[in-house]
Amino acid sequence: MNKISTKPNNDFCPQTLFLYGTYDENGNPDFGLFCWFSYIWDANELGVMCCIGGKKLTMDNILRDKVFSACLVTEEMLPYADYLGCVSGYKEEKMKIGLDIGKGAVLNVPTLNDSPVIFELEVTQFIPTGDAHIMICKIRNVLQDENLSSKDISDVEKLAKIAPVKTTCSRYFSYTGGDLGLWGEPMKKFNSGKNE
Ligand SMILES: Cc1cc2nc3c(=O)[nH]c(=O)nc-3n(C[C@H](O)[C@H](O)[C@H](O)COP(=O)(O)O)c2cc1C
Repeated sequence: MNKISTKPNNDFCPQTLFLYGTYDENGNPDFGLFCWFSYIWDANELGVMCCIGGKKLTMDNILRDKVFSACLVTEEMLPYADYLGCVSGYKEEKMKIGLDIGKGAVLNVPTLNDSPVIFELEVTQFIPTGDAHIMICKIRNVLQDENLSSKDISDVEKLAKIAPVKTTCSRYFSYTGGDLGLWGEPMKKFNSGKNE
């Protein structure tokens, strides 16, 4: 296979999407959409590493409280997940969209009841890079849909059922590779649904 050199980019490298839940300084929940999220093995246990770039409400809240939730995004959640990724938390109206919000079982973090897998994360190390923050996190709890522990269906069937969303090339994709639209497109469905 012949190769060409390109400028830095991560096209064709699909990433899993999460909605990070935090409380603002008045105790109001905020959610933002994130994909720079992966795993580490540290002190004999699974941990998380992630990065937030630029100034964002999610980052302000994590720097202050050092905790957040990471809620796996499914196809069903995509219209509002796209909205939460395209609208800044500094916009006062952002969270007035009637989400089904819960609470962490171990940490004081807001969670999304629609999400089948939710990490409750505590940051143990911030690595500021200038414009961004890299964060090393301990997984204090994982809230999982109880159906995911069923022995009656296979992991392949479970994944197909929850249908996690991936992203690359500024588009969303289904777990099996189906096109779910450009960034900014799924939220149009959500907005029109809201106005009905
Ligand atoms: C598909 C997608 C993935 C994103 N992933 C990241 C990410 O990994 N890191 C980041 O800093 N911002 C990311 N963003 C941007 C944030 O979601 C966006 O700035 C959002 O408004 C943040 O919410 P907040 O202002 O309530 O914190 C992503 C946006 C989209 C649409």
